[in-house]
Amino acid sequence: MKAKITVAAEMKIGSIDRRMFGSFIEHLGRAVYGGIYEPGHPMADEDGFRKDVIGLINELDVPVVRYPGGNFVSGYDWEDGVGPVSERPKHLELAWGVTEPNTFGTNEFMRWCQKAKTSPMMAVNLGTRGPDAARALVEYCNHKSNSKYSDLRISHGYKDPWGVKLWCLGNEMDGPWQMCSKTAEEYGRVANEASKMMKWVDPSIETVLCGSSSRYMNTFGQWEQKTLEIAYDNVDYVSLHQYYDNHRGDTASFLAKSLDLDDFIYSVICVCDYVKAKKRSKKQINLSFDEWNVWYHSNGAPVERWSTAPNQLEDIYNFEDALVVACMLITLLRHADRVKIACLAQLVNVIAPIFTKTGGGSFRQTTFYPFKMMSKYARGAALSPIINCPKYDCKDFTDVPYLESIVTYDEENDEVALFAVNRSLDEKMLLDINLLGFEGYKAVSFEALEGFDVLQENTFGDERVTMRSKELPVSDGKITTAELEPLSFSVIRFRK
Ligand code: AHR
Repeated sequence: MKAKITVAAEMKIGSIDRRMFGSFIEHLGRAVYGGIYEPGHPMADEDGFRKDVIGLINELDVPVVRYPGGNFVSGYDWEDGVGPVSERPKHLELAWGVTEPNTFGTNEFMRWCQKAKTSPMMAVNLGTRGPDAARALVEYCNHKSNSKYSDLRISHGYKDPWGVKLWCLGNEMDGPWQMCSKTAEEYGRVANEASKMMKWVDPSIETVLCGSSSRYMNTFGQWEQKTLEIAYDNVDYVSLHQYYDNHRGDTASFLAKSLDLDDFIYSVICVCDYVKAKKRSKKQINLSFDEWNVWYHSNGAPVERWSTAPNQLEDIYNFEDALVVACMLITLLRHADRVKIACLAQLVNVIAPIFTKTGGGSFRQTTFYPFKMMSKYARGAALSPIINCPKYDCKDFTDVPYLESIVTYDEENDEVALFAVNRSLDEKMLLDINLLGFEGYKAVSFEALEGFDVLQENTFGDERVTMRSKELPVSDGKITTAELEPLSFSVIRFRK
């Protein structure tokens, strides 16, 4: 089949906030213990941080990591995770039915962020706790000295404040599975008061209001409206969460899930702007897509109650999952004007692109690659291309374009990058790329994830689903024509 993509530097959607390539570490399964933190492991440094894992995270170039949850945060007493490790209590962790040893807490996470070359996005407990514990934690993390909680931090051996700039106001508070879930009115008020006080402690921080935990909740829409009506002036972002699955084994519908994502993002923007209009406000609320991924392979796996760091939510991803992750990232970039933060949930072991063996090695999952390629090359501005391509119908959607694509322009490094998924199960795509106004730019690299069975996975010592370099596409000086294999993710970079 034939397709065409036309774009110019002037067709700018918005600047790409680097935080679009964030991720998430929750106290859940082996994300922390046996994931990023494993004292005694041959690859652990003097703080117990696994250097092999940090190396892989550096490859992904993750600018921000959300912590400590997730559902976990709604029952978390942050005070249990600071101070001398030998004095920290064990905790019955109700979100996931396990025992939390608290040997890794706020200060360990901050040190880990420094070593992993990332920055923290902290979440506060607005479930079992509230605004008081939240403002105390901001004081503990960000206040210099001469106050109860800053002096407590100093007494724990951390003289300098951590300067955490980004804070989530709880997690999925409309979900009945959440400890102390709330109505929109209850949550709106608590979040507003918490955010207000947290900013009184440190006016330089930004806060994220919990949106509904899914667009398929009955609360969706009204939840965003009501909570924003209460907290609009005191918060900066509203959160979105979305996971997709392919339980039915229907690849054509699975690959089209990004159409649903696109619609979801658009709906939340509409609600934000409705409240803005109603309030006659000049302030714009942007979006923090702080949980997104494919998640279903591990559903139903048994977990021993009250165990510590069990094998929980350990999805092993396949090739089609990687294509869906690519489509989701392309969609997020298409909303770069409003989506400023996004966190691939999660980062290590728990529904993650990096997988480890406790006491053993690690490997890159299939989904590692689209994330890495876009984190590395989708820089500068996202451009809005005109795409002409054939479409298909499937069980869940009609008019699905075979081509999912975005173009980015990194003015600073003078580089244009095209990211493209060919959704066709069996047909090659001849893609004409017309870069208007980019005279003299030529393709300098063409890499693709292609040619695998949809169910092909990676594993320890066998990362066969990986990007491969291809021959550069042909150009007539104006139009570059690239051949995209059926079921493929391609990255083409252009330079002068
Ligand atoms: O990421 C796993 C879980 O999914 C998180 O704890 C929760 O916020 C969401 O439901």
